[in-house]
Amino acid sequence: MAEKPKVIVTRKLPDAVETRMMELFDTQLNLEDAPLSQDQLGAAFATADVVVPTVTDNIDAEIISRAGPKLKLIANFGVGVNHIDIVAANKKGLVITNTPDVLTEDTADLTMALIIMGPRRMSEGERMLRAGGWDGWAPTQHLGHRINGKRLGIIGMGRIGTAVARRALGFGIAIHYHNRMRLSGELEAELEATYWENLDQMIRHMDILSVNCPLTPDTHHLLSEKRLAMLQPHCFVVNAARGGIIDEAALAGALKRGDIGGAALDVFENEPTVHADLMGLENVVLLPHLGSATLEGRIDMGEKVIVNVKTFIDGHKPPDRVLPNLK
Ligand code: DGY
Repeated sequence: MAEKPKVIVTRKLPDAVETRMMELFDTQLNLEDAPLSQDQLGAAFATADVVVPTVTDNIDAEIISRAGPKLKLIANFGVGVNHIDIVAANKKGLVITNTPDVLTEDTADLTMALIIMGPRRMSEGERMLRAGGWDGWAPTQHLGHRINGKRLGIIGMGRIGTAVARRALGFGIAIHYHNRMRLSGELEAELEATYWENLDQMIRHMDILSVNCPLTPDTHHLLSEKRLAMLQPHCFVVNAARGGIIDEAALAGALKRGDIGGAALDVFENEPTVHADLMGLENVVLLPHLGSATLEGRIDMGEKVIVNVKTFIDGHKPPDRVLPNLK
């Protein structure tokens, strides 16, 4: 029987996923779950046939240059691959896979929660109650803003953006979107969605903005200081995609000055560090990158990783290839 491929997993995965990976491959787990140092990551790249990283690994050109002769596949546990230098991986002839679809609904649920939590000041209310500051109901206490009838601008209308739109429509929110490609007429009609080719024009008119695009060199700081200055003073900014799509320092400044209504964020530019000014602001919801954090989702993501690795090892094209992009 041929030797089992050496698969190095960089973080702790759900038990069921790890057990199956141990059965199928010569798997090196990270049971302590301590993020790997760059040196440990480099060593993994030097010795493995397959590396299974996550968003917490910084797979830059230097790490990729340390890939040994056996390494052929990076099977990412997660859909976003912004933490991998795709250009360097491509030059090295590596295949990259990810885990799309299985986390769409969970991430859209979390995004919808943020869309409600921000304008309705839910985090503020909970903080006040837990701090013992609640004296009972009062007609003018803690008033937020109605989301029904408001305009939601979705930046990035892919799988997750579309799933957010479906939810928001059910809450009586008007759907607007900016995307590289316009949706089909049928889907636009189903979502009652208005397409804006020009992002600058759209964001000037929105009550809530939700960032749902991937982080790429093109979308880095897409919501720049200049664009944040275009928002209406009551606009809420929601981000459950990647922190780097928003200029976090500029966002903190705009919130501190009261130039915009608030923000509800699940992701940050330099995780796990959060901009100090955001931490002190009341009109901001801060969650620790929980978008796809359900047990069901994580098991499904693991299943995708296993199928991608197994298919590749068996000499076939893995289903979720990001690189080469030949679907
Ligand atoms: C994803 O899958 O991209 C999640 O954000 C975790 O990486």
